[in-house]
Amino acid sequence: MKITVRVWRQANAQAEGRMVSYDVDGVDAEMSFLEMLDVLNERLTLQGDDPIAFDSDCREGICGMCGLVINGEAHGPVQTTTCQLHMRYFDDGETIDIEPWRAEGFPIVKDLIVDRSAFDRIIQAGGYISAPTGAAPDSHAMPVPKDDADTAFDAATCIGCGACVAACPNGSATLFTAAKITHLGLLPQGQPERDSRVLGMVAQHDAEGFGGCTNIGECTAACPKGVPLETISRMNRDLLGALGRGTCGIH
Ligand code: SF4
Ligand code: FES
Repeated sequence: MKITVRVWRQANAQAEGRMVSYDVDGVDAEMSFLEMLDVLNERLTLQGDDPIAFDSDCREGICGMCGLVINGEAHGPVQTTTCQLHMRYFDDGETIDIEPWRAEGFPIVKDLIVDRSAFDRIIQAGGYISAPTGAAPDSHAMPVPKDDADTAFDAATCIGCGACVAACPNGSATLFTAAKITHLGLLPQGQPERDSRVLGMVAQHDAEGFGGCTNIGECTAACPKGVPLETISRMNRDLLGALGRGTCGIH
C-alpha cells in the first residue's frame, strides 16, 4: 500500500503547530498503525529530518500511552487502541489525518504527544485505598458478590488512555474518573474512603480544566475497553450521597 499521512507537527508547547503531509510507501496491511509511523520515522531520521514524536509503550493495548486522533476519531475507525489498530482498515492511496488529543486538560508537549499528568493528579486525589499492607489475606476472607466483582472489573479495565476526553465535545474526563471511582467503590476495601474519594476526584477533575458531562456518550463509544456509560451514573449517585452526608474530602 502507498498512503499519504497529514500529521500535526508542533515543535514544543509554545510553538505554533500545522499539518504536514508525508507519502509513505511499502505499507503492509498487517502493520499496526504505530509500525506505519515507525517506517515513516525511519525515513525521516535517515534524511536528517526531525522524526514525528508520538507516545507508545506496551503496543499491546494495556498501557494507554498511544492515543492519536485518526481521521477525526479517537484511536481511529475501530474501537481499540492505536497500537492495536492495523493498516488493513485503510485503503491503498488513502490520505489519513493524524492529530494529538485536543483538550484543555491535555496540553501538547510535542507533535502528537500530550501531557496526561492531569489523570495522575485525579488518581492522587482519591483513587486509592488505605488497607494496611502485609501478608496477602486469604482470598475468601472478604466475600464480594459476583455482580459487584464483575462491574468493578469492567471499570478496572480502564487503561487511562484519554480517548474518552478526546472524543467528548466538552473535553470531559468524566468516564475515566467514574471508572476509577466505581472500581474501588464497589469493593469492600474501597468503603472507608468512598465519600472523600468521589468528592476529591471530582473536584480535581474540574480543577484540571476538563469539561462537564452532558450525557452525550461519545466517551464510551470511543473507549477501547468499552467502559460503560452506566459507570458515570454510579459516580453521580456516589457524589450525591457524599454531598448529602456532608463529608468533605477536599482539603
Ligand atoms: S475510560 Fe476508556 S477511553 Fe477513558 S481513559 Fe479509560 S480506557 Fe481510555
Ligand atoms: S502502546 Fe500501550 S496501549 Fe497502546
